[in-house]
Amino acid sequence: MTDSALRTQVGIIGAGPAGLLLAQILHLHGIDSIIIEAQSRPHIESRVRAGLMEHDSCQQMRDAGIGARMDREGLVHEGIILRFAGHSHRIPLTELTGRRVTVYGQQEVVKDLIAARLATGRPLFFEAPAIAIENTDTPKIHFRHNGTEKTILCDFIAGCDGFHGPSRASIPAHRMKIFERVYPFGWLGILAESPPASHELVYASHPGGFALLSMRSPRISRLYLQCAPDENLADWSDARIWDELDTRLADRESTPLPRGPILQKGITPLRSFVAEPMRHHRLFLLGDAAHIVPPTGAKGLNLAFADVHVLARAFTAWYQDNEADGLETYSATALRRVWQAERFAWWMTTLMHRFDNHSPFEARMQEAELDYLTSSKAGMTTIAENYVGLRLL
Ligand code: FAD
Ligand code: DHB
Repeated sequence: MTDSALRTQVGIIGAGPAGLLLAQILHLHGIDSIIIEAQSRPHIESRVRAGLMEHDSCQQMRDAGIGARMDREGLVHEGIILRFAGHSHRIPLTELTGRRVTVYGQQEVVKDLIAARLATGRPLFFEAPAIAIENTDTPKIHFRHNGTEKTILCDFIAGCDGFHGPSRASIPAHRMKIFERVYPFGWLGILAESPPASHELVYASHPGGFALLSMRSPRISRLYLQCAPDENLADWSDARIWDELDTRLADRESTPLPRGPILQKGITPLRSFVAEPMRHHRLFLLGDAAHIVPPTGAKGLNLAFADVHVLARAFTAWYQDNEADGLETYSATALRRVWQAERFAWWMTTLMHRFDNHSPFEARMQEAELDYLTSSKAGMTTIAENYVGLRLL
């Protein structure tokens, strides 16, 4: 052991929603962890990403003791709007499922989790990238911090380092099967200082492409436009973005969107991706490190939380009762839900976006499916029960 070696039970790479929630739940069960995060605290607290929390994700926040601000400030939604052919159709989520969703920005979730972590006094290193992983019977994580190299000695490694992190990359390619689909479009997303034009989220399918109206507060809108995957952000002036949103989000009654300063804009490519299995030896993958969904179903953050639910329970059984079953079945249990969410996100994406390679026949099929889904209780229920989130396994 070198001078700079640290010892813990679970070494966690990445302080996104997955790593932070896992650390918090483990702490509540008396299990020690160390978190290392490549970026600075201001960077991860200001990163604008997902915004919609499923019913059970909100309960996970409460159970972890960090639900108070979410319950005060989050916007509870009992329905969403699907808009196409100039008409709006409400899916009454709560009436159909008894469950609700909450709009609460991912960076607020991350802020709450960081505050809870710091209050425990247990280590969370920022600007501390993992540089090598030794996935042996005595696992080690090597990382850099303040110009020196340090090592974490641990029983298990939780790879919560997102899609581009080193955890998944450390697993030999022949031990892993990759499933992937890259879509021929991306999303241009903006955060704007303007009151949301609708109290409920609007998912719009339009000949010009998909658009989504969401929000962060009664004064801040979050809006998205389908765009080319290699779209140049510089080609999108603020006026062009608002004009395009007005066109695609219009229905017969709607007036132009209230415009305001655009606080942030960015382009996200759309992909579906799953790495199987989600465990190799003593390394467990969670969240975006193992899977990516296109954002149309609002599943990314929720799926990371669902992985945490399964792995935290497994670690608790291992450390409290010496019970290994949960660790052995982690990958299979988590993947079952992952594939359910992948299916829904792929289906919503296919249903709502404009595909340049669609034949006129396929375009009519899309219209007919939207018509069926919004005029049948069974159709609406299918959307609703997936959207509010399937039960945690
Ligand atoms: P992340 O949040 O990616 O966290 C991983 C962490 O690991 C990061 O903080 C990263 O800095 C850190 N890390 C990486 N490498 C290292 C290293 N070597 N050492 C230490 N730490 C490391 N989902 C939706 O549902 N709706 C959306 O609108 C939406 N928009 C998105 C926009 C973007 C640009 C991206 C990237 C994702 C978006 N998502 C969206 C998906 C959602 O945000 C993710 O599913 C969610 O963040 C997953 O959480 P995570 O903890 O698994 O990973
Ligand atoms: C948001 C993003 C999504 O992808 C989605 O489906 C719903 C809401 C959001 O950022 O608010």
